[in-house]
Amino acid sequence: MTLQNIGVIGAGTMGNGIAQTCALCGFDVVMQDIAQAPLDNGMKTIQKSLDRLVGKEKISTADYEAALARLKTTTDINAMEDRDLVIEAASENIEIKLGVFTQLNKICPDSTILATNTSSLSLTRIAAASGRADRVVGMHFFNPVPLMALVEVIRALQTSDKTYNAIETLANSLGKTPVSVKDSPGFVVNRMLVPMINEAVFILYEGLAQAEDIDAAMKLGAAHPMGPLALADMIGLDVCLWVMNVLHEEFGDSKFRPCPLLKQMVDAGYLGRKTGRGFYQYGG
Ligand code: CAA
Repeated sequence: MTLQNIGVIGAGTMGNGIAQTCALCGFDVVMQDIAQAPLDNGMKTIQKSLDRLVGKEKISTADYEAALARLKTTTDINAMEDRDLVIEAASENIEIKLGVFTQLNKICPDSTILATNTSSLSLTRIAAASGRADRVVGMHFFNPVPLMALVEVIRALQTSDKTYNAIETLANSLGKTPVSVKDSPGFVVNRMLVPMINEAVFILYEGLAQAEDIDAAMKLGAAHPMGPLALADMIGLDVCLWVMNVLHEEFGDSKFRPCPLLKQMVDAGYLGRKTGRGFYQYGG
């Protein structure tokens, strides 16, 4: 099965990173969002990211221009009608995702594979509501998508081998390494990574060490490319809290309880880089 025309639902951090990666790797991409403003912001982020890749000599100016020429944006979800694959990267809200999948099932040809970039919701539930359960699969990318080499390919209980194999091949074509994971809360990476971040927030909350020292400890003592608090700011504190809540509720295990400081930061609107303030300050 050849997947050449790709749709991306959502122009946020993950959506625009996925759209950029697909366009750079030669695929025809349409990125959809519900309003023009997120699409404009998404395109600005893509151009900045491509600029950096040119600056680092990872791609040429011709690659940059070809990628932008292969990438279109729209606010109309009906534009997905000719896509071989649609990757949904909308908000992590089950009702929104179910609504998107129901619409896509009506709009797209029968052969279209519907993938979701969900970081922790039940893929099996999304597949069940989709109307085409065997052609639904998880493609979980990592932030920043253009730089991170992994894609978790998640099989819902209903995902067919044909669908799974097509997505595994596609992930390789995107220059990523696919890892096969069964549907389970947090899959592999978030189940380990986000509790580690939460533990770093507990260490800060308990006054055991300063943010800079916690991050330095993990960079220098465990060879992590970023400290856990800087990473939380990059992922978004709201996303970290969301993942902790899902792990806590789904496993019913107190080891996944979110740190009170993480909840307070989210309540205060200190969500990390995207709001200019998290565990660190950004910009101005
Ligand atoms: N496109 C997008 N972002 C880019 C980029 C590009 N082409 N090049 C660099 N960046 C970003 C980085 O976030 C960072 O921001 P600022 O400079 O604006 O402050 C910066 O650009 C770092 O630039 P560098 O040139 O120093 O980049 P680097 O080569 O040192 O690598 C990194 C940066 C890849 C992010 C590295 O630090 C790293 O691997 N960090 C860990 C990332 C990680 O763990 N990601 C997984 C998060 S979990 C997740 O995504 C799943 C989920 O569901 C929550």
